[in-house]
Amino acid sequence: MSALTNLTGFRGWRVGAGLLGAGATALAYGSLIERNAFTVRRFEIEALPRGMRSLRVLHISDVHLTMKQHRKVEWIRSLAALKPDFVVSTGDHLGGDEAVFPNVIRAHGPLLDFPGVFVWGNNDHFKPVPKSPTRYFTRSTASRAGQRVDLGPLATEFTDRGWLDLNNRRDALEIDGVRIAFGGVNDPHTAHDHYERIAGPADPDAAVRIGVLHSPEPRLLSPFTDDGYELLLAGHTHGGQVRVPFYGALVSNCELDPSQARWVSTWDTDAGNRSTLHVCAGLGTSPYAPVRFACRPEATLLTLTASPDSPIRSRAR
Ligand SMILES: [Fe+2]
Repeated sequence: MSALTNLTGFRGWRVGAGLLGAGATALAYGSLIERNAFTVRRFEIEALPRGMRSLRVLHISDVHLTMKQHRKVEWIRSLAALKPDFVVSTGDHLGGDEAVFPNVIRAHGPLLDFPGVFVWGNNDHFKPVPKSPTRYFTRSTASRAGQRVDLGPLATEFTDRGWLDLNNRRDALEIDGVRIAFGGVNDPHTAHDHYERIAGPADPDAAVRIGVLHSPEPRLLSPFTDDGYELLLAGHTHGGQVRVPFYGALVSNCELDPSQARWVSTWDTDAGNRSTLHVCAGLGTSPYAPVRFACRPEATLLTLTASPDSPIRSRAR
């Protein structure tokens, strides 16, 4: 073996060891620090008719709450200080089975004092089961593995406090005499969605029409948009959960393009209609993949403002 071969092998070993060390450091950072670095994102979206006052919408998603996440519970409770006009929760409240309900109710308690709406996510319907973390990067479809959760009591806790259950339902909130119309579907990732039950032109008398769903599947974003929902709110993607700095998300964990895995973008349909899409990167992870990288856990305060030009409601649809 030549001296050059020895040198190359030594350098290769050093590069490999360096990459391994960097990976381990990133993993430790993502699981111990960033995963708990909760933050509030803020976006303004022109979505209201001219002359209307702004509305503050707190969008929370993918809490994935377990029994011991007391710090997360207290942080979510503190969001009430934002004083939103209403709250939208786009699913995956649970990181376990029915035993987690008291923690979920405690976390949401102060938020339930505000008007709100909710839909379920795949991790609400089924208790998470151990699986390879790499599965998140290789599959966009979900199995219905895991113990089924009876969501009835949790739904009752929410609706008894006034939140609207939007699982395959349409409904509306009145905020200071202004009508906000909603259409929602149950979790698409586990095929609980039934858009046909809410299909049809959205409420023409509302100031704004909002579509609510957990997994932002294109097969649903388009009918929502073509039915006249100007704003679509979703979660599920965790923003890609492990993002590559200066590149972005590698996956969305659904059929949405990873470039739209978080924050505000637009959705265009073949029929020529457009909606605004906000995907919340969410506050948690599966208990079996407890890492976030370059994608802090977040809730979002959306400020809906009036359009300075023409009312969005007049847009062709
Ligand atoms: Fe989730």
